[in-house]
Amino acid sequence: MDTSGLNRREFLRKGAAAAITAALSTALPGAMPARAQDKSETDLFRQINRAKDKNKLQGLELGHVPQIHAPDSIKAGVPFEAEVRVGEKLHEMVPSHYIDWIDLYADDIFLTKFILTPNLTQPVCKIMITLDRSATLRAIEHCNLHGLWEGARPITVTP
Ligand SMILES: [Fe+2]
Repeated sequence: MDTSGLNRREFLRKGAAAAITAALSTALPGAMPARAQDKSETDLFRQINRAKDKNKLQGLELGHVPQIHAPDSIKAGVPFEAEVRVGEKLHEMVPSHYIDWIDLYADDIFLTKFILTPNLTQPVCKIMITLDRSATLRAIEHCNLHGLWEGARPITVTP
């Protein structure tokens, strides 16, 4: 490499700074982009976020509260299909902003985890479930920029 225009110390200083910048920008895939965050954005990561009014989603709730589609009532022991969609307005899935996983529970019992890849998947997941008692299905998703969000749907089980 031609360094005739720079003295050796300046060349090494600039090279080290460039290497550190490059390492930091690639070492943490999905890391927060370098920009100022207000308190409301950082608070999203300190809690599980839920809709304030599930019948009237607003702001970030529109793209983040999981929507669970399933029958209101099922028969005990008979499998049924449940679909989880992240957002009333489906959340984007690009490398800089995406849903990286969705967990599904029946009350506090873990059922499954969906792990998603930006660009190649959409945050829509289906699964067959069998319940033997009434329960609330709870979906918790993680957005790389907006933290954890929960949506819920009660399912009544009849004998
Ligand atoms: Fe998001």
